[in-house]
Amino acid sequence: MTISHLSTDVLIVGCGAAGLSLALRLAETAQVMALAKGPLYEGSTYYAQGGVSAVLDAGDSIESHLQDTLIAGAGLCHTDAVRFTVAHGREVIEWLSAQGVPFTKESTADGNVDYHLHREGGHSHRRVAHAADATGRAIQTTLEERARQHPGITLYDHYSAVDLIASRKLGLSGNRCLGAYVLNRQTGRVEAIAARVVVLATGGASRVYLYSSNPDGSTGDGIAMAWRAGCRVSNMEFMQFHPTCLYHPKAKSFLISEAVRGEGGVLRLPDGSRFMHHFDPRLELAPRDIVARAIDHEMKRLGAECLYLDISHKPAAFIRDHFPNIDAKCREYGFDMTQEPLPVVPAAHYTCGGVMTDLAGRTDLEGLYAIGEVAFTGLHGANRMASNSLLECLVFAAAASADIKTCLRQVPELPALPAWDESRVTDSDEDVVVTHNWQELRRFMWDYVGIVRTNKRLQRAKNRVDLLLREIAEYYGNFRISADLIELRNLALVADLIIRSALERKESRGLHYTLDYPASNDTASPHDTILVPEHFAGKEWDPRWSDSTS
Ligand code: FAD
Ligand code: SIN
Repeated sequence: MTISHLSTDVLIVGCGAAGLSLALRLAETAQVMALAKGPLYEGSTYYAQGGVSAVLDAGDSIESHLQDTLIAGAGLCHTDAVRFTVAHGREVIEWLSAQGVPFTKESTADGNVDYHLHREGGHSHRRVAHAADATGRAIQTTLEERARQHPGITLYDHYSAVDLIASRKLGLSGNRCLGAYVLNRQTGRVEAIAARVVVLATGGASRVYLYSSNPDGSTGDGIAMAWRAGCRVSNMEFMQFHPTCLYHPKAKSFLISEAVRGEGGVLRLPDGSRFMHHFDPRLELAPRDIVARAIDHEMKRLGAECLYLDISHKPAAFIRDHFPNIDAKCREYGFDMTQEPLPVVPAAHYTCGGVMTDLAGRTDLEGLYAIGEVAFTGLHGANRMASNSLLECLVFAAAASADIKTCLRQVPELPALPAWDESRVTDSDEDVVVTHNWQELRRFMWDYVGIVRTNKRLQRAKNRVDLLLREIAEYYGNFRISADLIELRNLALVADLIIRSALERKESRGLHYTLDYPASNDTASPHDTILVPEHFAGKEWDPRWSDSTS
């Protein structure tokens, strides 16, 4: 579908859980245009398995969800952001149900029907509402269908946002986001879309690593665009590695949900023995950073290519009932999880840092919001607890929609935006530069900026990324852009932000583990690693930023 009008009230970049739920909440009051850079479904949301955490069980409490999140976040969560998010859990689950998401239900002792809840790492209660083991697919397809039917929403697939258009860049007064340049991936044409409000809902950046559970599009585009437009980013050193992705040359790091461990799955060494008791009393249900590091440690110690996740001691019917999609996928690769342990390895999974926002999703730039995995709200601290991400997407979409509805009325008239200018560039004659740099970047990020870091490795990575950034900037300046070039440019920038943040944190904490400073140290580094762009959009206004420790 080709973009038919070049201005809108609200431009949402991204059609995952965050983008689509925002679109649906806004569509009664505003004209909404939402973009996806590939097919609409193709984001992390579609692939989510475990579910959405929320306090739904009578024996559970908001206080308990809050405390579990703070513990998993290793002292760096912003308590106000955690409280705000977990307090809205039930509300967003009910909203999703009302949209038609088919959550798995069970009969209760008193004869009623209620949500069936899974347990996952770090949670002290069963707290994860799910649609079998394909929760993300249920959410994505339901919201997509609702959005397609809504007359107030226009959805455009195969459009990549290239950059935000800010008043400062146009030499205009103020500090506002006015829209975005977007590439039609099918025609190669770039359009300027004017919008009274722009929302980044572009997901994370885990594809900066060689092995990742994420779809190809998780290239940190929103973080890079916001940074170039003058917004601060925070805590980029906290990249989460999921402990258990299927180890198979063709499986592309297919995830084996943490819910498998929640239902009794155990980790084993190649000789069949268990090992998690050497690392944490919570065993397989310790927070993810601890489990991933334990697996990495054992693999390196033994020179093993993978370790094993075993739930075959449970009845086959139980396994197939709880994990029908994982079971089917494993069978495709020749593994029967009801009969044998599955080979697993860790892979990059989630970006805890991102574009700094307040509790309404507002960024440093007027009129620009960021919600979902692209944002840093303070919720996750040094390590995201399982299934808190979809919750964050949904809660912050609701919060941003309320704020946008109020602000839209006050937005000044939009100026005319300059068209994309290609008069000084030509077609690339060397696409190999893009593919080569792409591979090099992911490889050195995996080797030097992975689960275990050192100053030396980080410095090596920094030297390499500096070279790449220069080379890519030159290439970008001379040639017509392509979808791949946009992603490479963004990935290199995000890699640089991750490395710089990791170099700044002189301690080990949560997902950031370095052999040079193996202990946590409250005084060695600031609470948050905040990076400020040279052309910081500026904040004469009140700090909209939630207090980090309150
Ligand atoms: P996404 O769903 O990633 O969507 C991003 C959107 O932005 C896409 O539409 C994409 O096309 C678009 N986009 C990106 N860049 C551009 C651009 N330049 N121009 C235009 N469009 C762009 N979390 C949980 O809480 N529970 C789970 O059980 C769970 N399981 C997971 C399992 C897997 C395999 C993975 C990968 C993640 C899982 N997560 C889980 C994490 C969670 O799924 C994600 O954090 C969440 O779905 C992110 O949603 P989002 O809307 O922010 O972004
Ligand atoms: C999983 O199902 O293990 C993923 C859960 C998450 O990433 O929150």
